[in-house]
Amino acid sequence: MLTSSNAIVSALKQKFQKVFNAPPQLFYSPGRINLIGEHTDYNNGFVLPAAIDKAIYVAIAERNDDCIELYSFEFNEQFSVHLSDIKPIEHSWVNYVLGVVAQLKKDRYPVKGFSVMLDGDIPIGAGLSSSAAVECAVIYALNQLFNLQLSKLQMVTYAQQAEHEYAGVKCGIMDMFASMFGKKEQAILLDCRSLAYEYIPVQLKEYSIVLLNTNIKHSLASSAYNERRIQCEQGVEWVKEKYPNVFSLRDVDMQMLKSIVELKDGLVYQRCKYIVEENIRLKHACAYLQEGNITAMGKEMFATHEGLSKEFEVSCIELDFLVEYAKNKKEVAGARMMGGGFGGCTINIVETNTLQQFIEDATKAYEERFNQPASYYIVSIGDGTGAITV
Ligand code: GLA
Repeated sequence: MLTSSNAIVSALKQKFQKVFNAPPQLFYSPGRINLIGEHTDYNNGFVLPAAIDKAIYVAIAERNDDCIELYSFEFNEQFSVHLSDIKPIEHSWVNYVLGVVAQLKKDRYPVKGFSVMLDGDIPIGAGLSSSAAVECAVIYALNQLFNLQLSKLQMVTYAQQAEHEYAGVKCGIMDMFASMFGKKEQAILLDCRSLAYEYIPVQLKEYSIVLLNTNIKHSLASSAYNERRIQCEQGVEWVKEKYPNVFSLRDVDMQMLKSIVELKDGLVYQRCKYIVEENIRLKHACAYLQEGNITAMGKEMFATHEGLSKEFEVSCIELDFLVEYAKNKKEVAGARMMGGGFGGCTINIVETNTLQQFIEDATKAYEERFNQPASYYIVSIGDGTGAITV
């Protein structure tokens, strides 16, 4: 059980009792970081995420009718819908809850009416997967409430499907997997093709992880994300014409890309090249992490950023600025943009004894350059989705 954020949980519990006049069950699901392996998940590659000590908290109770009553602290919004009337709502956090219920209904799970209240401390739009955390927290809660007997992997898959159908983002499985399967002080090396995974201890010795938030969220993010996915699929299709056993970029090597894709389309080649190389970088970074060679791991992270910025083109000037700033500091082992891109956070591996100074200097430089502040979060790695017993 989580011990932090007790204040959020007790306020949530009290408010739930007041609004819905029933004692709730309580659950949480964390946000995530990703050390390396970006945009590789929907290409059947590898990722190395971890759950963090910031989460979405859910209070929930069964109702006597067939309605869903939703309440979000964060947005101070309430929403209610009949179970038989669920459909996506334009641009709303409500979709993350409804999306999950819709998946369960589709497969005829016995979901009945319920009241649910949400709160959390994952910054929204920072690329820390607050939406995946909502989906995982809600499906985990429903699984307990209605005794649905879902496995963790089933819950992750439904949560991902909810994001596809109700949020319109054709995301991979990484965010939900990390939120659900996270483990204290461990990263998850996940093979997104077989879904086999292993925990890798994150022992950074004299280094710490800090996220610098650009506080930027470009509106083209989800359409550009879906477009990258299509470009990668196009590359696979072309390679498959000659190599029928190729099903994803996971099965593709540089020689195939050069001899087939590069001749057809320079941009598609560039996108695919980034993915093929990112899987290789991840393997190296993982080995370095296990050996305790943090500076070598950091170099791979810088290289990832270069690829994301120049080849996959999902960075932005604000993210590039922060990574460039970090690159010039000897106390930083590695840094890169993290998550889908076009805003959000950079992840930085920084010497612990100069961490505060680095944060101060980097956020100041950012503010001078962009006339708006950057926020920061010193991250510790926590456990995945679970129940809270208070
Ligand atoms: C977003 C998606 C993930 C993954 C990352 C990029 O966070 O939700 O599935 O594709 O972008 O690595």
